[in-house]
Amino acid sequence: MRRAIYPGSFDPITNGHLDIIARGCKLFDEIIIAILVNPEKLPFFSIDERREMLGEVLGQIKSGSCQLRVDAFEGLLVQYAVAQQAEAIVRGIRAISDYEFELQMALMNRRLEPTIETVFMMPAEAYSYVSSRLVKEVFLLGGALDGLVPPLVEARMKEKVAPR
Ligand code: PNS
Repeated sequence: MRRAIYPGSFDPITNGHLDIIARGCKLFDEIIIAILVNPEKLPFFSIDERREMLGEVLGQIKSGSCQLRVDAFEGLLVQYAVAQQAEAIVRGIRAISDYEFELQMALMNRRLEPTIETVFMMPAEAYSYVSSRLVKEVFLLGGALDGLVPPLVEARMKEKVAPR
């Protein structure tokens, strides 16, 4: 049983994240999509909203025999990974600019917990410029999100800012 953690903020989940999950499914039997609980960041979606959305979106993708689970974690990622009996952390790398920070994190995580490997995966080129941060910016400025996030996510974003 090969289990990996795919950690992140997922605020919101993008099609780039889904692409990485689908690729990770070729390597692992189970992937835990783990949302970081970060009290310092003011998120667009609450942890519960992200959990619920991820569950729905992941239910719609074909993951074959790979199990997908959604969870949230606080504190050190490697401690969480050990507690979940995972052997790897999956991270997506879109461009060389991602690599520097991801390498730092991967090496720090290895120092903290040498038994956990970090696996870098490249998304399809079509998602190489897609990030949650840009998705939120484009959305808040009135731009279209089709092809960047699942339709359900765009709908939830619209609900969130709709006047009551
Ligand atoms: O989606 P993000 O914001 O790029 O994900 C960053 C994440 C969650 C992978 C990173 O912030 C993290 O692992 N945080 C947990 C705290 C931790 O373990 N810090 C030491 C890592 S070097």
